Amino acid sequence: MEQYVIRGGKPLQGEVIIGGAKNAALGILAAAVMTDDTVTIENLPNVSDINVLLQAIGSIGAGTRRINKNVVEISGKDINTLCVEDDYIRKIRASYYLLGALLGKYKKAEVALPGGCNIGSRPIDQHLKGLRALGAKVEIDNGMIHAEAERLTGAHIYFDNVSVGATINVMLAACMADGRTTLENSAKEPHIVDVANFLNSMGANIKGAGTDVIRINGVKELHGCEYIIIPDQIEAGTFMCAAAATKGDVTVRNIIPKHMESVTAKLIETGAKVMEGMDYLRVIGTDKSHATSIKTLPYPGFPTDMQPQMAVVLALAAGTSTITESIFENRFKYVDELIRMGADIKVEGNIAIIHGVNGLKSAAVNAPDLRAGAALVIAALAASGCSDVNEIRYIKRGYEDFDVKLRALGADIEEFSDERDALKFKLRTG
Ligand code: UD1
Repeated sequence: MEQYVIRGGKPLQGEVIIGGAKNAALGILAAAVMTDDTVTIENLPNVSDINVLLQAIGSIGAGTRRINKNVVEISGKDINTLCVEDDYIRKIRASYYLLGALLGKYKKAEVALPGGCNIGSRPIDQHLKGLRALGAKVEIDNGMIHAEAERLTGAHIYFDNVSVGATINVMLAACMADGRTTLENSAKEPHIVDVANFLNSMGANIKGAGTDVIRINGVKELHGCEYIIIPDQIEAGTFMCAAAATKGDVTVRNIIPKHMESVTAKLIETGAKVMEGMDYLRVIGTDKSHATSIKTLPYPGFPTDMQPQMAVVLALAAGTSTITESIFENRFKYVDELIRMGADIKVEGNIAIIHGVNGLKSAAVNAPDLRAGAALVIAALAASGCSDVNEIRYIKRGYEDFDVKLRALGADIEEFSDERDALKFKLRTG
C-alpha cells in the first residue's frame, strides 16, 4: 500500500507553482472529442483522474497522444462506439461528461449511471432534465443511461439546484443543438468559464459563463484549437492552508488570485497575512491564529473542496470555529482521523464544531477521499512527530507531485510502498 510518511513540525517556506485545474480539464477533455479535428490541450494536470478519463476517451476510439506529461492531443475523428463502459464511470464520475459531448456531436450516447461516492449520494437528475429539455430521449436501463435524439433543439432550462456537473454536461450538448439554449441557475465556478472558453475556441457560441445565466447558440460543427487550462484553484488553496497551518511563509504562483478570494478572506480572518500579486499569493502563517466560521457554498462562496484543508487550519486556531457543509452530505469523514491526531472536533449533522488546540500529534491515518487526504497531509505537516498517511491513491487523483512540491517547501515527506523503507526514513529523520 502506498503511503506518505511525514515528519511534521516544520514551517513550509518558499514558492510553489500550481498546475492546471483538474475539474476544468475533465470537462475540456470530454469536449475535445466533439470535433473531428485535432485539439491540443496544455497545462493538463498529470493526475490519475485525468489519466482515467483519457483512457475512457481512448476506449471509444478517439486518439489521445501525450506530447509530454502536461500536453495532450485529442482527435475525435475515429470514434467507433458511443458507449462508455461502466468501469470508467466507476473509477471517475466525470466520465459522464462524455454523455453530453457524444450526444451533442452524434445525437446518441450511452454511459453507465454513476453511483454514490465517498462524500455522499450524488444524483444526476439535473443533467438528465437538461438533456431531455434539449429533446433527447433519455432512458435508464440495466445501470446504463441511454440518450438519443433525432435532433437536439435549443431550450430554456432552469436548474433546480446549482450543479457544476449538470451545467457542463448540458452546455456540451447544447452547443451543437439547433437554435438557442438558455441555462438558468447555472454554476459559476472558474472551471465552468474555462470549459465555455475552450468550447468557444472550438467555434461554439456560448455567452454568460461565470454568471447565473448562460446563453448558447448552437453551431453545426466545432473545429480544432490549442488551449491552455486555467490554474487549479483547489491545489492553490491547499498550499495556502498548508502555509497557514504550519505557520510558514509560502508564495503560491501561477494562479488567478481572484479565484482564491473566499479562501484568502477566511485565512485573513484567522490571522494569516496574505499578500497579492498579479499571478501569486503569499501566505504567512501566524502563531496566534483565531477561530472563524465557514459555510460551503457554490462559487463565489467558500468551496466544499477546500473545507477539509481549512478544518486543519481551524483545528489549530484559538477559540471555537464552525464549518457548515451545505453541498455534500458526507464530507466530514476525515474528522475522526483528525481527532486521532489530537484535534477537538464534534460533528452535528452538517456542522463541524472545532475547538482549537495548541498542537497536533502524529498518528497513522487513512485518507477517506481526495481533499480529505490532502487535509490529513497538512495536519501531519503541522503535527509533532512522524505520521503515516495511507490510501494516498485518493490524493493522487487530484494532486500532481504533491510530495515533490511539499519537499521543495522544506517538508520532510516521502512516499513509500515498502514498510522497511518507511522505517528507515523514520529513523533517519527522527
Ligand atoms: C463538482 C466537482 C467537485 C466539487 C463539486 C461542488 C468536478 C469533476 N467535481 O462535482 O470536486 O466538490 O462540483 O463544487 O468538477 N446535485 C443534484 N442533482 C444533480 C447534480 C447535482 O441534486 O443532477 C446536487 C449534488 O448532490 C450536490 C450539489 O448538487 O449536493 C452540487 O453538486 P455538483 O455541483 O453537481 O457537483 P459535481 O459536479 O458532481
